[in-house]
Amino acid sequence: MTTVLITGANRGIGLEFVKQYAGEGARVHACCRNPDKADALKAISGDIVLHKLDVSDFAAVKALGQKIDEPLDIVVANAGAGGKDTGDFGGYDFEAFSNLLKVNTLGPVATLEAFGPQLKKAKGKFAAISSQLGSIENASGFAPAYSTSKAGLDMAIKSLAPLFTQAGVAVGLFHPGWVKTDMGGAEAPVTPEESVAGLRKQIAAMTPGEPRLVAYNGDVLPW
Ligand SMILES: NC(=O)c1ccc[n+]([C@@H]2O[C@H](COP(=O)([O-])OP(=O)(O)OC[C@H]3O[C@@H](n4cnc5c(N)ncnc54)[C@H](OP(=O)(O)O)[C@@H]3O)[C@@H](O)[C@H]2O)c1
Repeated sequence: MTTVLITGANRGIGLEFVKQYAGEGARVHACCRNPDKADALKAISGDIVLHKLDVSDFAAVKALGQKIDEPLDIVVANAGAGGKDTGDFGGYDFEAFSNLLKVNTLGPVATLEAFGPQLKKAKGKFAAISSQLGSIENASGFAPAYSTSKAGLDMAIKSLAPLFTQAGVAVGLFHPGWVKTDMGGAEAPVTPEESVAGLRKQIAAMTPGEPRLVAYNGDVLPW
């Protein structure tokens, strides 16, 4: 049986990951900030274990890593925040900018650190949900704070990946597409179902070694 852990599992892309993995019979550790209010998540049937987790509470991430004592085949570091609270250059709210970096950049690093041992036991796969906006080569000036947080995520995870290669753990970064969620908005062209079906295919195809930034449809994006 496949065992999966997903952060930010209560809505959007994370919720869809739970639906699809649980739907194919996987055991899913579904992590979210407010399990009490996670009605959509609780409505999914299957072998699902709920955990309360704010990924910017690094002590809590570490503690959950010590609590979950079973091999993990797949860990999806999906939890992420948009940058709308940071304001614009000239009037940045640096407290909000720091929080964005904590959630989007350091949260997945803490997740990899906490669940690395379980991934090694399973020779599993670690997928961090990044964004095409984190591509430095394609930087357009749109959403600089959010883009910075995802570029930092890419660098952090790519730099740490070699620590996992010999243990047989594949580590990768993924762009989900522009997806119809609270973050992506109603005009986004890709549904969560399409995005996650594609991401699951790309995650399944990952092998240990050089990580890349891969879109849900298999396109390899420049760093
Ligand atoms: N949608 C897009 O077009 C798009 C494009 C590129 C990349 N992405 C990335 O895809 C991932 C999922 O995005 P989405 O579209 O599904 O966004 P979403 O609908 O806004 O959902 C974000 C999820 O992340 C959780 N989250 C936020 N801060 C958290 C924290 N500190 N600790 C734990 N969970 C936290 C949210 O939980 P709460 O309900 O508690 O807030 C929610 O479950 C993110 O990493 C995002 O950056 C999305």
